Amino acid sequence: MPTLRDIVTKGLSHLPENGRRTLAVDAEARQILRSWMQGRKTTPRQEAAQPAPESVEDKLAYLRERAEHWAPARRLGSLRDTMVFAVGNPHARLMLVGEAPGYDEELRREPFVGKAGQKLNDILRAMGLARAEIYISNICKFRPSMGANQGTANRPPTPEEISACLPLIQAEIRAIAPECIVCLGATAAKGLLGSEGSVGSLRGAWWETQGVPVRVTYHPSYLLRNEALSARRAVWEDMLAVMERLSLPISPKQRAFFLPKN
Ligand code: URA
Repeated sequence: MPTLRDIVTKGLSHLPENGRRTLAVDAEARQILRSWMQGRKTTPRQEAAQPAPESVEDKLAYLRERAEHWAPARRLGSLRDTMVFAVGNPHARLMLVGEAPGYDEELRREPFVGKAGQKLNDILRAMGLARAEIYISNICKFRPSMGANQGTANRPPTPEEISACLPLIQAEIRAIAPECIVCLGATAAKGLLGSEGSVGSLRGAWWETQGVPVRVTYHPSYLLRNEALSARRAVWEDMLAVMERLSLPISPKQRAFFLPKN
């Protein structure tokens, strides 16, 4: 009986006869073809006994490609075309989840690179973490559209837009398997926890999604609008809880950040 490899090889060999010189293959198919070309000969039983061949990097590359053509989001017609995936360390212990790309993120195709991103970088620096050490993503992978004259304006994603993109962030969480997640703002919490609550009502406790502990804090853009010491301290206390969970070193000076001076 011909194997799947025999059938695919035969089909591919007939492509030129049918006038085809190129073929679009996704990341998963590419990986299978590469392993065949490397002459890996395994029986189906051996194949099944082998550990999953995909590394976290491969899984993320595959997801990025799926996200690019993600039909549930594209068919809504309310999200812009450019897909902005995620950035950071595939082996991160900490994963941050924001809302959706804005004007700057869409231009650079990277989450949190605008003003809110600079505020986020400040927070990470205060924690003693570099951006490259953690994994940063968004609940919605496309900038929500506001019509032809949108300019630099942004809006949060609707519940439909969040649901359409949710399988992507859920698959990222499974691939990264972080030790904890921080939801930056109520939109991320709504997506990951299914909660309608405000950040004020959700912060200060540990929640869970797909078996991973989740902390909810204010979105960095909230701190751009509200410079009060109490707002900065609130976010900082959430981050101290995350640092404790990850057993990161915390100095007395760090513990006292954003406390009122006597
Ligand atoms: N706000 C978000 O929630 N995500 C981004 O990537 C940028 C701004």
